Amino acid sequence: MRLQNTETMNDNREFDIIVWGATGYTGRLVAEYLFNTYAANKSIKWAMGGRNQSKLEKVRAAVADETIPLVIADSHDEESLNAMVQRTRVICTTVGPYGKYGDKLVAACVTNQTDYCDLTGEVAWMRRMIDQQHEAASANGTKIVHTCGFDSIPSDMGVFFMQKEAKARTGHRAKQIKMRVRAFAGAFSGGTYGTGTYWMEEAAKDKSVIDIELDPYGLNPVGEQGGPDERDLQSVVYDKASKSWIYPFIMAGINTRVVRRSNALGGYPYGKDFRYDEASMSGDGFVGRMKGILTAAAFGIFTSAKPGSLMKKGLDRLMPKPGEGPSKEKREAGYYDLRFIATLEDGSSAVGKVTGDMDPGYGSTSKMIAESAICLAKDETPNIGGVLTPSIAMGEALLERLQENAGLTFSYQEGEFSG
Ligand SMILES: NC(=O)c1ccc[n+]([C@@H]2O[C@H](COP(=O)([O-])OP(=O)(O)OC[C@H]3O[C@@H](n4cnc5c(N)ncnc54)[C@H](OP(=O)(O)O)[C@@H]3O)[C@@H](O)[C@H]2O)c1
Repeated sequence: MRLQNTETMNDNREFDIIVWGATGYTGRLVAEYLFNTYAANKSIKWAMGGRNQSKLEKVRAAVADETIPLVIADSHDEESLNAMVQRTRVICTTVGPYGKYGDKLVAACVTNQTDYCDLTGEVAWMRRMIDQQHEAASANGTKIVHTCGFDSIPSDMGVFFMQKEAKARTGHRAKQIKMRVRAFAGAFSGGTYGTGTYWMEEAAKDKSVIDIELDPYGLNPVGEQGGPDERDLQSVVYDKASKSWIYPFIMAGINTRVVRRSNALGGYPYGKDFRYDEASMSGDGFVGRMKGILTAAAFGIFTSAKPGSLMKKGLDRLMPKPGEGPSKEKREAGYYDLRFIATLEDGSSAVGKVTGDMDPGYGSTSKMIAESAICLAKDETPNIGGVLTPSIAMGEALLERLQENAGLTFSYQEGEFSG
């Protein structure tokens, strides 16, 4: 429960939102979106944050104007972090790798009862934050919300939506959902590539990182880290549910853990026996099978290049650098189409569809995290604190915002998957 005196204190803060990391590739997109969408009606008081004043000024001149205040804080300087979080109701951070730069910021947010959202998909770091901060955040009502980008909002909110619709239409919950990526177009930024490299290096030093990442229930509350789901798909197989060959989906190891944490934090509204998995579709027949095999092989080579190896050095040269990412044209030409194939308790079937109108990683992600931050600052959300998932922290209010403002669609159809 949020304390009464804190609510008053938090309500009276100078800003609703500080976008911290606004000089980076994704942070700049978030700032640009907030300025273009909300500056004119002045409904949100927000500021751009970073560690370098002159760089921030240059970015502000490019994406906003001087009415947007600037705030300076460095991840290594606790005093600057505390001063920053005390000025705002919500911190929206795109400073990553979060495992490298995020611990002190999350601690400052919990201490000062400042709600928080980020774009991390770093499972081992989220586990650390759950272990270190969940109890305190839960006790003082602070919402710490990880995974407010492509990982894992479409999956987490997609399952939330499917369960809500199934229950309202039939009176039954879905006992199993298979999320299938039907199509998508997008690319990486330098920051995302750098974050992947950081975790490969961490995993080489500390075996527990891999153990956490491989545990299907690795983000569940302590004592509740079990259930019917097993390891994510590791090979190319024919999937009767989607009538297609399927291969491992790169984000499954993050999204499935988040969905399972939502179920556990919510008191198991999807059932303790609820099963959930994710995979990518490559189509039917010989062509579909070959496409799955080749894509999975390329993904395997990409992720197995060891730090320091010749292959990794070659990839490092090819991939974008920090601050770089897909062009505006590529972001606007991007999209995603996800299907949620559900089996209900009564044995009937339903299929959900979640789509995004821009590339998943940046165009759509920047809108999703911006709307999450506004939702935390302005909307009526569930009255709980802790290290939470998007659906648990924001539920219905976020679902509405994503559809109204962020270019996502959610739909539900009874019956089996038909393409
Ligand atoms: N989950 C998703 O769907 C998703 C999507 C997009 C991005 N991401 C994640 O978001 C993160 C950012 O990606 P990006 O491509 O935007 O990276 P980026 O362009 O490299 O930006 C990183 C930002 O962090 C700032 N920074 C670095 N060290 C700092 C420090 N010590 N104190 C304060 N600020 C510091 C940088 O400031 P300077 O400009 O001063 O260097 C910059 O603003 C990555 O971890 C990426 O994996 C996730």
